[in-house]
Amino acid sequence: MKITIAIDGPAASGKSTTAAQVARALGYSHLNSGLLYRAITWAAVERDWPLDEEGFDRRLGNLDLSLEPAGFGFRVLVDGTDPGVSLVSPATSAMVSEISARPAVRERVLHLLEREGGRGGVVCDGRDIGTVVFPTAELKVFLVASPEERARRRLLEQGIDPTTEAVREEAARLSARDTFDSGRAVAPLRRAADAIELDTTEMGASEVVQRIVSLALARESRVS
Ligand code: DC
Repeated sequence: MKITIAIDGPAASGKSTTAAQVARALGYSHLNSGLLYRAITWAAVERDWPLDEEGFDRRLGNLDLSLEPAGFGFRVLVDGTDPGVSLVSPATSAMVSEISARPAVRERVLHLLEREGGRGGVVCDGRDIGTVVFPTAELKVFLVASPEERARRRLLEQGIDPTTEAVREEAARLSARDTFDSGRAVAPLRRAADAIELDTTEMGASEVVQRIVSLALARESRVS
């Protein structure tokens, strides 16, 4: 039987890439929750939403946000259109932690994730998937890696030379985002008590995927 897999962890810990590959290997769907927070943030920045709670929440209420199946995952549509690479632009990334800490934003994303992922057969990645979104997921994984290694991977992904200085700066940015995400009042970044922690600092990407796929196959056979 297909199960629900929750993958959480700090920024640039390899959650989304890993989740996408695990979904593909198992024939599951990948739900990238960060993209939903990014889509709302993108709309708020692009359209210059007011930041007071009432004004912001009204604009959020009027936003048409949906998920469309695409391959082994989903595309996020804002008013029917995929914002594409703008979702991962520096302008969006700079604001996403702050916007995603708003209770109305969390509630909106939670409903979408529950609707799409509630039937199982999904690999969902984020910060609060094992604790808040799918607390009864059969498999929960918490990915960690040193800030320097995460910074190095992020820079390589962006085609930037990971010099000592560049790694130091990016590691500081990532650590600041982690501190904010872990310290917020609503659904903070936290390892679920029953999550398996994998430190990937010294692991290759395919090794991480293999480990999770093996764990998933064992859980699948247990619940069938
Ligand atoms: O995974 P990511 O870097 O795309 O996530 C972007 C931001 O969204 C991250 O800084 C915190 C927020 N986020 C969250 O609060 N809860 C989630 N489940 C996923 C992301």
